[in-house]
Amino acid sequence: MQEAILKIDGLSKQFQLHDQNKLIPSCAQVQLEVFAGELTALVGPTGAGKSSVLKAIYRTYLPSGGRIVYRDANDSLTDLAQASEHRMLELRKHELGFVTQFLHCLPRKSAVEVVAEPLVTRGTRRDLAAERARELLALLNVPERLWGVPPATFSGGEKQRVNLARGLIARPRLLLLDEPTASLDPATTDRVVELLQSIKAEGVAMLAIFHHPELVERLADRVVKLKPPVAAATLLEPLAS
Ligand SMILES: Nc1ncnc2c1ncn2[C@@H]1O[C@H](COP(=O)(O)OP(=O)(O)OP(=O)(O)O)[C@@H](O)[C@H]1O
Ligand SMILES: [Mg+2]
Repeated sequence: MQEAILKIDGLSKQFQLHDQNKLIPSCAQVQLEVFAGELTALVGPTGAGKSSVLKAIYRTYLPSGGRIVYRDANDSLTDLAQASEHRMLELRKHELGFVTQFLHCLPRKSAVEVVAEPLVTRGTRRDLAAERARELLALLNVPERLWGVPPATFSGGEKQRVNLARGLIARPRLLLLDEPTASLDPATTDRVVELLQSIKAEGVAMLAIFHHPELVERLADRVVKLKPPVAAATLLEPLAS
């Protein structure tokens, strides 16, 4: 039987609001597995902690408890809940991809440069990376007149396409997707579905959140349902005065 690329056990995350003396739980007791060549979909109501799980894996958030065991290209295991910053940077550079809900990009770089960057970082020649970036931008229906322009002023849908192209260009081993098609039209959504299917066929493992349940049906091999964490806010012990 195939071994999981990612195995999450008892993951939880709370945020401590010091000024209000409160703990806000964002996900609790999450259990899931992701396999090469398969897509695991995370579903659940708003606030259930779906985005928080992806951020804990990519370590945008430091988890409060549980294990996030990642099997790397050399078959060695790393607990991403405990890994050093250096190890995380290395994994982000070579193995992990994250298409976040919103594009956070550096100003003054053109859309082509923003998309090509992950390939350049991995050692691909700049002109070849730019060529691949233009192919992806064309595939995702980004108008050619925008390719040389920084995406800061793009519309929501245009930014999302740039974000997707950037996330898909380097073929990570594990790809995290947070509502990648939420602001796309049906024709572009279909192209994204085809693209994700072909990436899956190449063996990439994916953990994804989709805005439309229909996409879960089309793409998911496994579905994990998150429940909102119990107790909206737990009061801490009153501070000694
Ligand atoms: N940085 C943060 N500081 C404080 N609370 C946070 C933070 N990030 C997330 N939370 C809280 O954690 C809970 C889960 O948030 P999360 O964004 O993971 O939900 P979600 O399932 O992705 O929801 P949606 O479907 O609306 O995107 C929410 O109640 C949110 O307020
Ligand atoms: Mg979310």
